[in-house]
Amino acid sequence: MKGIILAGGTGSRLMPLTKITNKHLLPVYNKPMIYYPLQTLVDAGIKDIMLVSGKGFAGHFVELLGSGKALGARITYEVQEEAGGIAQALGLARQWAGDEKLMVILGDNIFDDNISKAVEDFKKQPGGAKIFLKSVEDPKRFGVPQLSGDKIVQIEEKPAVPKSDYAVTGLYMYDSQVWNVIDDLVPSGRGELEITDVNNFYVQQGTMSYEILENNWTDAGTFDSLLRASNHVYKMEQDK
Ligand code: G1P
Repeated sequence: MKGIILAGGTGSRLMPLTKITNKHLLPVYNKPMIYYPLQTLVDAGIKDIMLVSGKGFAGHFVELLGSGKALGARITYEVQEEAGGIAQALGLARQWAGDEKLMVILGDNIFDDNISKAVEDFKKQPGGAKIFLKSVEDPKRFGVPQLSGDKIVQIEEKPAVPKSDYAVTGLYMYDSQVWNVIDDLVPSGRGELEITDVNNFYVQQGTMSYEILENNWTDAGTFDSLLRASNHVYKMEQDK
């Protein structure tokens, strides 16, 4: 299974921090943000990784991470010319990924769980997709699943009235149908190809499975969540 880290976008919610650098290079306590999702993939046994980043700062990622050797990974780089959404960025990895199953992670998501077991489960799953949910205090900020029994009925992107307390976190596993799904997407109200629309394809197909994360998870794309992420990592370091 191959891994894809999405580290594009303009980071507009973090201006002016993101005026002269990329969001994913900002510090989360003692490391650049991008180290955390990269480590999540490596810890899950995924070593063959493509990093998709925006045009302006792509070189900085290469300088920081190089071939990935120091982290035990092999990193390939792809450039997103214009920010067009998570699903659009993912589409750029198509040729590199071929027909393999994929793990996709957002570059501003910080997970404490080790997800090796879920990866093994997904390898055995005949096809489809798997996502990871986490209960949060402010689901309106995220993709939110509506659950019925142990099934996801649908996912809504940043709903005004969330149908559960869960966020769909930025970690997704897909089979190779994902490429055709992306081809058929139309831009959302915010002008982006939404990963939630990709996930809803699999929900409707009845091939979406999910796990609920046991440990801490946060994104780091807003001032508050960036601070929370730093404080959390600081605390984890002290507790070691
Ligand atoms: C994105 C996704 C959303 C998901 C979130 C996780 O939101 O669109 O479904 O819950 O990442 O971090 P964004 O941060 O791009 O607004």
